[in-house]
Amino acid sequence: MPLELLPTCEQSQAFTRAHRAAGATVALVPTMGALHEGHLGLVRDGRRRCDLVVVSIFVNPTQFGPGEDFERYPRALEQDLEKLAAEGVAAVFHPAPEEMYPPGHSTFVEPPAVAARWEGERRPGHFRGVCTVCLKLFHAVSADVAIFGAKDYQQAAVIRAMVRDVNLPMEVAVSPTVRESDGLAMSSRNAYLSADERRRAPAIYRGLAALAEAVQGGERDVAALEGRLAEALAAGVDRIDYAVVVDAGTLEPITTIARPALALVAAHVGGVRLIDNLPLPVDSKR
Ligand code: PAJ
Repeated sequence: MPLELLPTCEQSQAFTRAHRAAGATVALVPTMGALHEGHLGLVRDGRRRCDLVVVSIFVNPTQFGPGEDFERYPRALEQDLEKLAAEGVAAVFHPAPEEMYPPGHSTFVEPPAVAARWEGERRPGHFRGVCTVCLKLFHAVSADVAIFGAKDYQQAAVIRAMVRDVNLPMEVAVSPTVRESDGLAMSSRNAYLSADERRRAPAIYRGLAALAEAVQGGERDVAALEGRLAEALAAGVDRIDYAVVVDAGTLEPITTIARPALALVAAHVGGVRLIDNLPLPVDSKR
């Protein structure tokens, strides 16, 4: 089946509803384009789960704050379409900004509680924009499952809560983070890193991995773990926004690790803000 390009909500609804009515299951992978192996991992997951995969490509203006990188965010539609065709994607929903936000658009989604901290605190309005565009995408693409990346852990938790809270009849699935060979989580924003910054950026993953090892070795004290993380990050990053150990379900701070926990980092390397996270094992015997 050749890749279909769907520029309007109406065309996208008609396409996905027709296929679902004919008995096919549909996976949606929402993206902002400039696709890399991280995105393609989600697509492959979608192909394993469903008969058809629809990818959306839309650089959503409402989730970027003033002074963020909306204008310079990388755009590479032709290459993206080639990559998706090679992965056997059925269709790409690629709306114009006016299709998603026509004049007079004034309805926004109030994000769920799990959006309050971390990215929500550092990027006011970000999750309001993410929730709003995702709810619109979920209506434009009638899917059985929407697939998100663990790389943006809080985003996936926010979307899962929103889908539950507004009773959308759709599953939210989370696929593992895809990394470069030195551990750096793949991201469209890695393209902004200079050679020196690129060399330093893997300190984030090394810090997270060291933390997982410390927990495996028996450390349960969160203050001690966060101290170690900050120290490891200092080897490569210029500024830490947050580097914390939290409850993996609520993303609330904790003092000791007793339940599934997660290390969450946002840090600046040069002028580039990077985020990453790693689940911390709790089942080791000590
Ligand atoms: P974008 O940054 O393009 O990411 C699209 C999806 O790819 C997200 O679910 C993200 O978590 C996932 N992803 C990115 N890098 C990844 C990696 N290295 N490994 C695994 N998954 C990865 O996230 C957004 O776009 C937007 O906020 C969006 C949800 C599309 C709403 O506009």
